[in-house]
Amino acid sequence: MSDGRDPAVSAGAPDRESVAPPPSFVAQANVTDPDIYREFDEEWPECWRRAADRLTWTSQYDSVLSTADGIDWFPGGELNASYNCVDRHVEAGRKNHAAIKWEGKLGETRTYTYQDLYREVNAFAAALREMGVEEDDVVTLYMPVLPELVVAMLACARIGAVHSVVFAGFSADALATRMENAGSALLITCDGYYRRGTAVDLKSKADNACLSVSQDVDQVVVDRLEGPSYPGDHRSYEDCIDAHDGEVVEPVARESGDLLFYIYTSGTTGEPTEVRHTTGGYLSHVAWTSHAVFDLEPSDTHWCTADVGWITGHSYVVYGPLAIGATTVLFEGTPDPPGKDRFWEVIERNAVDVFYTAPTSIRAFMKWGEEVPARHDLSSLRLLGSVGESIDATAWEWYHEHIGGGECPIVDTWWQTETGGVMLSTLPGVDEMRPGSVGRPLPGIDAEVVDEFGEEAPTGESGQLVVTKPWPGMPVALREGTDWARTARGDPDDEHWAYSTGDGAVADEDGYVTLLGRLDDVVNVSGRRLGTTEIESAIIGVEGIAEAAVVGGEDDLKGTTIHAYVSPAANVAGTDDLRQQVRAAVEDAIGPVAVPEEITFTSALPKTRSGKILRRYLEAIANGEQPEDTSSLRNPEVVGELESLVDE
Ligand code: WT7
Repeated sequence: MSDGRDPAVSAGAPDRESVAPPPSFVAQANVTDPDIYREFDEEWPECWRRAADRLTWTSQYDSVLSTADGIDWFPGGELNASYNCVDRHVEAGRKNHAAIKWEGKLGETRTYTYQDLYREVNAFAAALREMGVEEDDVVTLYMPVLPELVVAMLACARIGAVHSVVFAGFSADALATRMENAGSALLITCDGYYRRGTAVDLKSKADNACLSVSQDVDQVVVDRLEGPSYPGDHRSYEDCIDAHDGEVVEPVARESGDLLFYIYTSGTTGEPTEVRHTTGGYLSHVAWTSHAVFDLEPSDTHWCTADVGWITGHSYVVYGPLAIGATTVLFEGTPDPPGKDRFWEVIERNAVDVFYTAPTSIRAFMKWGEEVPARHDLSSLRLLGSVGESIDATAWEWYHEHIGGGECPIVDTWWQTETGGVMLSTLPGVDEMRPGSVGRPLPGIDAEVVDEFGEEAPTGESGQLVVTKPWPGMPVALREGTDWARTARGDPDDEHWAYSTGDGAVADEDGYVTLLGRLDDVVNVSGRRLGTTEIESAIIGVEGIAEAAVVGGEDDLKGTTIHAYVSPAANVAGTDDLRQQVRAAVEDAIGPVAVPEEITFTSALPKTRSGKILRRYLEAIANGEQPEDTSSLRNPEVVGELESLVDE
């Protein structure tokens, strides 16, 4: 294919326009020298000193990376995350600078200065101590996006306890599985939250979870809902703060490799995957990327719309912006309701500089029309970000034009729960952008697209994205080379070391990577990662169900929706009642986010001769496409039945 340009000097993929970062942005950007790629490459791993040196260490690290016994970033170094995110900004004289601006679901607002945050984190840390929480104990946090959640995270970090935040939309069972796995004996939760104007009870879910785990669990409850406080046998968060107000808790020096938090994500097994992140490596990675990718300065107001319960919220609502000393917007709501102007009101009122959201939201904004953002003054924006799934060129252009006024670079950031922080993205003050492609691996990150034999795929050919060198934000399992980190092969000193991301990708001649979706049994719904096996096990648990297969179907708004193909046991009818039971089972096991949009009953599932369910076939059916050759099916008679269902 020729686009009339000499391929040797062609800047990008032939069918994709490149967009240069606006000079006004470059003029003020944190990173502007293109040599940074070469420098990081030549100085690897020493280059990562630049990330670690954005933090304040109580003991200087001995070296940047050691691979003597597992993989150790910044060995010998000691630091405290709460000190780095709070105290040092107070000490630097910015005590009355806003740290958190909270936007509540009912339109309430609260501002915490760094001094306010310092006081409350200290008080809650003292309360945790008094409750007997010790270094390395795991404290579970289960609540919507409230300032108290951030305070609790930082208070844990202050005393060297490890937090495990569980998304408030998850069910009691999902919470219990996570508490059991982590052996967590303390739960910080709240009475409830508001959804579409009505109060949703969270405390009874917390109670049910506590009853079903094997350990005894104490609870601290934040009073979020209006009206009287929740009765029962627990401490109130407010009482904890009142009892310890004004106390100072010395931040505990943590070794670089000591745990900061647990977070659970969906893998390919029926169980959630536990990912453990460390203090020094993780914090260096998110502080560095907040500086280099999000271009954050202490004077900036940063709004990442993700729920704090997900890794995006941990890294770029809490730890990254606060490590920089910026102002972070904490947003409890959803894009709507009330009204479709909510996001733009928040940007306008808080004069947000950097806005980071997911393509699923951008697609919703597009549907509502450009006149909605046009009603607001968005001129404070300097940089836009996207994460969670690929942003197609149309949504990219719309975001660029109607939110960024054509003047803000967009960073399309690729990363995962496992990576801790951004891995692939353009540097907004250096690189040109190519809508639809995330860009190259960041300086210091080595990643490539490989074929099924692990060999680098030729330019333009798809394969799997793998990371070929360790990175500071890598999780503990990868460092130790244990459990799920089997996906990493080889010795870190070996040139064949690699972490398989599970994502399909293709690279162009300049190394710009376009993501093609997951290669494993993981689906991404509205930027939320769900394991199809987890959903299937919940469905199969329903009495009268023999088998189930869950696949992702394409959806204009959500990107992907969940389709379940369910085969009832002999003599059991696929009734609406059974369908309802399937929905309820998934909601109980995981939460409303995982409930299938479509449930199709079928007498059998299409299988290969070896008995494997042919998911590709079901995916085609879910998308109303003609499935490929069905000659390899063991039970071709099911074909007619499924296809006729599509026509209905
Ligand atoms: C999966 C990770 C930490 C990011 C939020 C979700 C997909 C993420 C992009 C992007 C295309 C993306 C990948 C990845 N993904 N960012 N910019 N372009 N796909 O974290 O729940 O761990 O999911 O999200 O498939 O593997 P997660």
